[in-house]
Amino acid sequence: TFTPRVFSGIQPSGNLHLGNYLGALKRFVDWQDRDVESIYCMVDLHAITVWQDPSNLRQATRELCAGFIAAGIDPEKSILINQSQVPEHAQLAWIFNCVARMGWMQRMTQFKDKAGKNAQNASLGLLAYPSLMAADILIYHATHVPVGEDQKQHLELTRDIATKFNHDYGVDFFPLTEPVIEGAATRVMSLRDGSKKMSKSDASDASRINMTDDAEAIAKKIRKAKTDPDALPSEAKGLEERPEARNLVNIYAALNEQSVDQVLADVGGKQFSEFKPMLVDLAVAKLAPISTEMARLMQHPDEIDKILTRGSERARAITAPILRQTYDIVGL
Ligand code: ADP
Ligand code: NA
Repeated sequence: TFTPRVFSGIQPSGNLHLGNYLGALKRFVDWQDRDVESIYCMVDLHAITVWQDPSNLRQATRELCAGFIAAGIDPEKSILINQSQVPEHAQLAWIFNCVARMGWMQRMTQFKDKAGKNAQNASLGLLAYPSLMAADILIYHATHVPVGEDQKQHLELTRDIATKFNHDYGVDFFPLTEPVIEGAATRVMSLRDGSKKMSKSDASDASRINMTDDAEAIAKKIRKAKTDPDALPSEAKGLEERPEARNLVNIYAALNEQSVDQVLADVGGKQFSEFKPMLVDLAVAKLAPISTEMARLMQHPDEIDKILTRGSERARAITAPILRQTYDIVGL
């Protein structure tokens, strides 16, 4: 049995958005406040699986760190790190590259989406991404990983890698980590197209609420969000065939820490012309203070760098012994 420990990460690839906040960051804050050790990571080594401008990357890593803190991650309560500063992540990933099978990686839907039609031309790192992700988690023997729904398949692969490692070496060394996918907004959709996930890489800025957006930008994007002409239903099943409507209700519920049914009990029967202003008020109240705090923190880049340096020292007290034991098991 393994002591409960939480790990999760976000890529510093710019445009931190409402989906990242509701699907991941807000959940990280919940876990931080339980009686469990939590480690949260800017995964810069994942970001470079597609080319990043070096000075932008450095800035994006700081901005992401500011986003974590502004959203409520306390670097005293949680261990806050930048992946490349804790070398054991990449060292364990190499071992996992030798445990995992190529076919496992080629089946991943995120790889297929990101590699596109010309998969032969994708970086080898993009293919091996889930192996590094497994290492990020298992180098801490983490038992729980809060993530959005899109990461479910990668978490299953993490369990497959742990299982195969334990089996190949006849040990019970790595835990079978549980994905934790909870809340009303585990998959936030684009505000412009209810069939697409809200994402950092969407060319349309109006498709997402960025965590750096000010009150005016947040309000404008919600007012322009795609909807349908019908009134809101009074139960969740009335949203099944209405992806845009459902998305806005999910966002409302998650921001207000309510279930979708609770929200619909209040707003059922209203038109979007009435509901959207309610969502604007709620979103501005919850999100604008975060963007203000991010901007304030970004004026002190040295402080951010210090927090990450200190975090990596704390992390290495965990990761160095686990890597040493792994090397022992493998015969290195
Ligand atoms: P992105 O997918 O925006 O590039 P990452 O891959 O770094 O971001 O994901 C960081 C976290 O945010 C993951 O836990 C992921 O599941 C979550 N996440 C990303 N997009 C969404 C979304 N649209 N809705 C809910 N959670 C999301
Ligand atoms: Na993602």
